[in-house]
Amino acid sequence: MDLQLTGKRALVTGASRGLGYATARTLALEGCQVAINSRSQANLSAAAEKLSQECGRPVTGLPGDIGLPDVPAALIQQAVQALGGLDLLVTNAGGPPAGKFEAFDDAAWQQAVELSLLSHVRLIRAALPALRQSPAASVLTITSYSVKQPIANLVLSNSVRAATVGLTKSLALELGAEGIRFNSILPGWTETERVYDLMSQRARANHTSVEEEIAKQTQDSPLGRMAQPQEFANAAVFLLSPAASYITGVMLTVDGGMYKGTL
Ligand SMILES: NC(=O)c1ccc[n+]([C@@H]2O[C@H](COP(=O)([O-])OP(=O)(O)OC[C@H]3O[C@@H](n4cnc5c(N)ncnc54)[C@H](OP(=O)(O)O)[C@@H]3O)[C@@H](O)[C@H]2O)c1
Repeated sequence: MDLQLTGKRALVTGASRGLGYATARTLALEGCQVAINSRSQANLSAAAEKLSQECGRPVTGLPGDIGLPDVPAALIQQAVQALGGLDLLVTNAGGPPAGKFEAFDDAAWQQAVELSLLSHVRLIRAALPALRQSPAASVLTITSYSVKQPIANLVLSNSVRAATVGLTKSLALELGAEGIRFNSILPGWTETERVYDLMSQRARANHTSVEEEIAKQTQDSPLGRMAQPQEFANAAVFLLSPAASYITGVMLTVDGGMYKGTL
């Protein structure tokens, strides 16, 4: 199948590693012009350089913390300038801290809203003028399967990301008539660097191995394992591509069947 991505202009935020990086890499390998973002200039430059070498064309690194109010609009402006427009936008960042309800005060909740809801709002709002110029405009928000089945000890993520899914669906309904598609992927446990570090910490604390900790975490998973970032990226790039031209408003769990509901 031809994903029809050659020459499409894409910005992926939160993309120096993990799910964002895997998505940016796959877009670049499919022929997109890609800009990536993260907070750390050093990590971002290294990631952009690696992608440029692998794909044989320049990949632009645009540093900035998208959890800060003024950064998303500036970032979109820089991406549109660097790429000569924008067709595809992936809104992604790190997650809010883990913890139970009584661990968090209003400031922590507000910070979670800034990072896991308002960053998406601000990026999409700033990108709309450029997306309206594109014949293949598509936006993908990265959230979590925890919006369908809350994960213990992650009350901030469980709560705030549900609003991002509501945002994504609302935009699909509101802007479909203009030809702009909006979808979200709700990933389950995926072996990114962050998750590997988390499993390593658990292994040290429990005097076990990383493999044993991963096995414990996935014992309830029908496929019995975590995803690889490329498995996430395959779904993400398809949803973004013109090959998915009749798919909008979809909240797709890519979780190996971990979510046990029927809808
Ligand atoms: N992996 C999983 O199993 C899983 C499952 C469900 C949901 N998720 C969610 O999916 C998202 C991506 O997960 P991941 O595992 O790929 O995470 P990750 O390995 O921690 O990568 C996050 C990426 O985002 C960048 N980033 C973090 N905060 C940022 C900010 N405020 N502004 C701009 N860039 C930022 C990081 O680079 P810098 O540090 O340089 O900024 C990094 O490139 C997270 O929100 C995570 O909670 C992941």
